[in-house]
Amino acid sequence: MSSHDVVLIPGDGIGPEVTAAARKILEAVAAPLSFQVHRAGLAALEQGEEVLPQSTVEAIQHCGVALKGPCTTPVGEGFTSVNVQLRQRLNLFAAVRPVRNLAGVDTRFDDVDLVIIRENTEGLYSGVENQVTPDVVMSMKVATETACDRIARWGFRFATLRKRKKITVFHKANIMKITDGLFLRCARKVHQSEYPNIEYEEVIIDAGCMKLVQDPSQFDVLLLENLYGDVVSDLCAGLVGGLGVVPGANYGEDLAVFEAVHGSAPDIAGQGVANPLAVTMSSVMMLNHLAETRDDPSCRESADRIKAAYNRTLADGCLTRDLGGELDTQGFVDALIERIEAARS
Ligand code: NAI
Repeated sequence: MSSHDVVLIPGDGIGPEVTAAARKILEAVAAPLSFQVHRAGLAALEQGEEVLPQSTVEAIQHCGVALKGPCTTPVGEGFTSVNVQLRQRLNLFAAVRPVRNLAGVDTRFDDVDLVIIRENTEGLYSGVENQVTPDVVMSMKVATETACDRIARWGFRFATLRKRKKITVFHKANIMKITDGLFLRCARKVHQSEYPNIEYEEVIIDAGCMKLVQDPSQFDVLLLENLYGDVVSDLCAGLVGGLGVVPGANYGEDLAVFEAVHGSAPDIAGQGVANPLAVTMSSVMMLNHLAETRDDPSCRESADRIKAAYNRTLADGCLTRDLGGELDTQGFVDALIERIEAARS
């Protein structure tokens, strides 16, 4: 089978470093991918383009799949997040972030196996913010029945296909009775009418965060609206070693963009020390997606080889600095590729 065209967006900050690292690893297993590199974020602005160039959007629509590095968003001023724009323009409504322990990465818990499903297109990220008077500002939380129903359906279907047992919705419907109330109503309805065999619970988000850090094993799949999903993703990353080890995917009806949960990490950008594992794990998710949607077993084979190699690398104690080790980005890539080659011989 010929190779799959995939858009590669290096992004900003550590983005070019970690995506280049992931690319070397994909090349080491001869993954059947053909990358088309496109810009977004500050990298695009610096070239005189828009932060999210139309050519990048069209390339993803054409290829159907992208691997994306993180993009920087200015805090408290400037342009709308490229990430939010991309998810809204391509209608990538479901973010999926698997959060699992990895052998070799010491953490407080050793039984974390969560999947976070985040509604990706609305809520407080709808971008409706106003200056009402000089000293009053307002941000609007938007929830539509269409999007709440769609993410609930997607979440239950995902849980069924992946043989997960339980879905927990984190919410704040005690305070945001109408918006979070709608999110809950849609989830309940989908559960009762279509997926009664999946266990379902609702937890107020503040208590849910406490429960997560006390005993994450009580949760399985978490279903959240946009902002809660964003925040809880990083909290959960902290349970398994940090942002360097949590991958992610953004799915629409026909398109999928794979990216780590982490951002552009300006504090370490350009130093060559970022952990490339989260984006590498995202590329494994991408290969599995291609295997399923394009019926190409060679993608699954590449994914399995990379996964086996990173598990071996970590178990052997080859860790980047964020995980308490001493390897820089290139050192980790070398260690991982060594294990890919060792498995081949
Ligand atoms: P961040 O995720 O970039 O960094 C948080 C902390 O985690 C930093 O100390 C950083 O050094 C560390 N870290 C993150 N990834 C790492 C890696 N792979 N290896 C080692 N350490 C890592 O979050 P922050 O600082 O809040 O945001 C920085 C920028 O990234 C902002 O402009 C933000 O808008 C953007 N961002 C972009 C995202 C995306 O493109 N999907 C997601 C999150 C943030």
